Amino acid sequence: MKKATVKGAREILLPYPRLHGTVSVEEALANRRSIREFRDEPIELEELSQLLWAAYGISETRYGLRTAPSAGAQYPLEVYAVVGERGVKADYGYLEAGIYYYDVYRHCLLLKKRGDYREALYRAALEQPWVLTAPVSIIFTAVYSRTVRVYGERGRVRYVPMDLGHAGQNVYLQATALGLGTVTVGAFHDEEVREILELSPEETPLYIMPVGKPLTPYRLTEEELIQFYQNNRKSSY
Ligand SMILES: Cc1cc2nc3c(=O)[nH]c(=O)nc-3n(C[C@H](O)[C@H](O)[C@H](O)COP(=O)(O)O)c2cc1C
Repeated sequence: MKKATVKGAREILLPYPRLHGTVSVEEALANRRSIREFRDEPIELEELSQLLWAAYGISETRYGLRTAPSAGAQYPLEVYAVVGERGVKADYGYLEAGIYYYDVYRHCLLLKKRGDYREALYRAALEQPWVLTAPVSIIFTAVYSRTVRVYGERGRVRYVPMDLGHAGQNVYLQATALGLGTVTVGAFHDEEVREILELSPEETPLYIMPVGKPLTPYRLTEEELIQFYQNNRKSSY
């Protein structure tokens, strides 16, 4: 079992993930959209817990297999949460603003750095406003060597990015099912994100996913979809 990389850090035990929800996978797929405008409101700790579990949590207890598939079960990704001031609400108040490492095996957050780093992250992400306005961002990094030592170059150029795509989509779908919104941000200065997160040299930041309550939730109706297909079927090849 891989061990958490933050030694002696303050630990926040997350509420256990729920394995039942009220939104079907079809509804989550239909209503998933990249959301870039958020309400000025926190998300709940239960919601952050659920998002992190969906991202890369345990879904098999013998070998520690995850919610996302991974080439050779090497699990090259690491997950962080950048929590803004009053960004995540818990029973006892707000989660302290900071940068947290997600310990998948214990389902807890380890506080790596105190403070609101959203502005620094926003600057690193080419000033994309949603990185600043979202109450929290989930960040995926990769330790390429875990996959490369098994698969060589194919691991680097194909399998790690594929693994990331699966995990990112999990976050999108879980966010949608919770009535939250997110967007995968791939455009940022690697070195700046690396510095903000104080990553080790072997860890590469890959996705920033700002999460919050959508200003305008996206809804697709069956009528709209059927109309679309019907119109397209009218035109011949
Ligand atoms: C690899 C990748 C990188 C992306 N990078 C960004 C980004 O830096 N900023 C952004 O606003 N959206 C980014 N997106 C989101 C796309 O713009 C979005 O998925 C696309 O416009 C389709 O919209 P949808 O997600 O609502 O279906 C990225 C998506 C992917 C898959």
